[in-house]
Amino acid sequence: MLIHRPADIPPSEITPPEIYRGRREFIRAAGGLVLAGGLGLQAEHAAATKLAGTRPGPYGTSEELTPWKDVTTYNNFYEFGTDKADPARTAGSLRPRPWAVQVDGLVKRPGSYDLDTLLRLAPLEDRIYRMRCVEGWSMVIPWVGYPLGELIRRVEPLGSAKYLEFTTLADRAQMPGVRTPVLDWPYTEGLRLDEAQHPLTLLAMGLYGETLANQNGAPVRIVVPWKYGFKSAKSIVRIRFVEKQPISSWMSAAPREYGFYSNVNPDVDHPRWSQAKERRIGEFSKRKTLMFNGYGEQVARLYSNLDLRKYF
Ligand code: MTE
Repeated sequence: MLIHRPADIPPSEITPPEIYRGRREFIRAAGGLVLAGGLGLQAEHAAATKLAGTRPGPYGTSEELTPWKDVTTYNNFYEFGTDKADPARTAGSLRPRPWAVQVDGLVKRPGSYDLDTLLRLAPLEDRIYRMRCVEGWSMVIPWVGYPLGELIRRVEPLGSAKYLEFTTLADRAQMPGVRTPVLDWPYTEGLRLDEAQHPLTLLAMGLYGETLANQNGAPVRIVVPWKYGFKSAKSIVRIRFVEKQPISSWMSAAPREYGFYSNVNPDVDHPRWSQAKERRIGEFSKRKTLMFNGYGEQVARLYSNLDLRKYF
């Protein structure tokens, strides 16, 4: 049996309608897996647990959800290989439990947060976000999580804390890609404190109403919908509050191509290709990319004093 859910509760009663529609898609996709014999994914999905008691979050979109099958089989997670299909095939070796996230640096209350504590820290919300990859494709994904600001508030950043640095797991035993030096391991990313505190920035622990699939960054990841996808670090193990702007793995790998901010910006080309358009996974023709991925109303004010060509 692929889908674990209490048989007596219709999903329409416990999930918002958009999510339920998505779940129907997801159920179809899961059925497709049986036919396709996607053994790795079947095992993966059998391991997923329903996240109970989630509530609809703000910033919803009426755009069609990207099917669960695409969200979980077309991934960037270099710790599991550089091909989009690699993570779904190889991420079964990731052990998402037990798990802890160390929160330290310039905060009054540093600590280690285990997964159950993180799951209970604040009410879990269903948040449907557009996501845009720097490579020119996009998806609409129903995440489950709560604002990262909830955690930030609890650790009480010091006045000197200006940035957050995220470090993700780099374990050669669980992650075959880490045995190859394609990036500086561990994968690190960073956000300015006010970006991290923005209500759109999620600490995500689920997808399509269930725990995250390994290939999507189980058990806990960051989701920043107005930035290119690589800013959304997966399988995080440490959040450090620092004074200086962190250098991310992508910045150190290719400083001319990847800046710290990496806001979705159709007007600033990647040195090797245009960012003006994108292909929504599942669609044939391209659509125009929107400034800040369409979240300008919420986030443009964060950058009112910044030249976004220089600080790309
Ligand atoms: N996080 C880690 N630890 N390793 C990675 O390789 N890839 C990033 C980001 N987070 C990556 C990561 C990139 S390039 C993208 S586009 C998104 O994850 C993809 O997330 P998704 O596969 O869940 O859509």
